[in-house]
Amino acid sequence: MDADTESLISIGREHLCQFSILRYQQEDGLNTVLPYGLRRIAALRTLTTESVAVLMPFRAQEIQDPGGICYGVNAISNNLLICDRKKLISPHGFYLGVSGSGKSMGMKSTVENVALGTDDDIIIFDIEREYGPLVRAFGGEVIEISPHSKHHINPLDVADDYDESESPIAIKSELITGILEQQMGAGTLTGSHKSIIDRCTANVYKAFRGKGRAPILRDWRNEVLQQPEPEARELALASEIITEGSLNVFAHKTNVNTHSRIVSLDLYEMGDQLRPTALVVALDYVQNRVIENRKQGRFTWVFIDEVYLYFKYHYSAEILYKAWKRFRKYGGILTAATQNVEECLQSETARLMLANSEFLMLFNQAATDRRELANLLHISDTQLGYITDAEPGHGLLRMGGVLVPFSNVIPKDTDLYRLMNTSPGQSR
Ligand SMILES: Nc1ncnc2c1ncn2[C@@H]1O[C@H](COP(=O)(O)OP(=O)(O)OP(=O)(O)O)[C@@H](O)[C@H]1O
Ligand SMILES: [Mg+2]
Repeated sequence: MDADTESLISIGREHLCQFSILRYQQEDGLNTVLPYGLRRIAALRTLTTESVAVLMPFRAQEIQDPGGICYGVNAISNNLLICDRKKLISPHGFYLGVSGSGKSMGMKSTVENVALGTDDDIIIFDIEREYGPLVRAFGGEVIEISPHSKHHINPLDVADDYDESESPIAIKSELITGILEQQMGAGTLTGSHKSIIDRCTANVYKAFRGKGRAPILRDWRNEVLQQPEPEARELALASEIITEGSLNVFAHKTNVNTHSRIVSLDLYEMGDQLRPTALVVALDYVQNRVIENRKQGRFTWVFIDEVYLYFKYHYSAEILYKAWKRFRKYGGILTAATQNVEECLQSETARLMLANSEFLMLFNQAATDRRELANLLHISDTQLGYITDAEPGHGLLRMGGVLVPFSNVIPKDTDLYRLMNTSPGQSR
């Protein structure tokens, strides 16, 4: 006992602490030490702020919204991060990070949690053909949009619940203008062209009212052919390739189950020529769906991977930005992922969208992007550490004004991992 006492005292002395012995007070000493809140020993000591700070338990910021979904665990406290984006002013989100940092995995993990934890609808823009296995595993529909696919979506389908303030004809004629602008080159459409487009769109919808089906692009082109103006001939010629020619993917009646709860739009095989049109048509389909869902009080989650493809084309960027602004009130929650933060921040539209998104998941960042983001979001140096050389599935999560380091690692030996993994060489 004496030897033990002696060695304790000497260990204390090494660390500049002075121990004294409680003679005949062992029981009081023990009761004081145990966490009963009793003080049986008349020894008090004044502590400076510095020493008190050492004894304080570490305080970490947490996000645990009732009814939210899980985005991983807090890297500091290991508590679950449960976020309810629906309660944010703007529920839209971005997943940013370098290639291979885990953005797509993160999106898939969110898709999984929304699919299992809510009754909301899910629509995915799959540019790299990587969401198919997951979507099929959840019983969803994969719609392949490509020049030789049997799946068709008719861009002229209308939802019957547009806002009173917006007429479907105006929206559709804008859509057709957009599609033709992609074909004819930006800036080539004059006022006369636009008037003819608008007139024909109105005519064709009037002719089809009560027919039980929406017009298709071919009907629209036939209407254009009836117009006397020379500009109409130009329009008919420009639209030939997308109605009769080799790019006629969008010139048929919708023949896929676009009403499945989970839908993935596979745009992988779209070449450069059709991609912008495909993106615009797909987003228009999503818009119809979101409007319908609002009628039923359903939320719609829209996931767009590799969103920079949208920003490349003026018209699709514009449409996406509009969606970003108006989807919230329709119960639409948009989530976009991209690697090119710097490139994104150069686009004014993308910047505005980023500013309009209160939910961000930042994965491992390249040095230049990190600096930009630190400025934009006021991230401290310590916090920057979490997005510097971070492992896949780790980073910073920002929700409203709260910034929390997260970790969301999906164990490799699970079926979920096999459904989500994109690394070549690892079995799917
Ligand atoms: N949360 C995670 N848990 C476990 N492994 C992960 C996680 N996230 C990513 N990985 C691993 O990293 C690989 C690449 O991830 P992911 O496809 O999500 O990258 P990305 O950020 O979308 O890249 P890119 O920009 O090239 O599409 C995955 O296939 C997987 O092996
Ligand atoms: Mg990816």
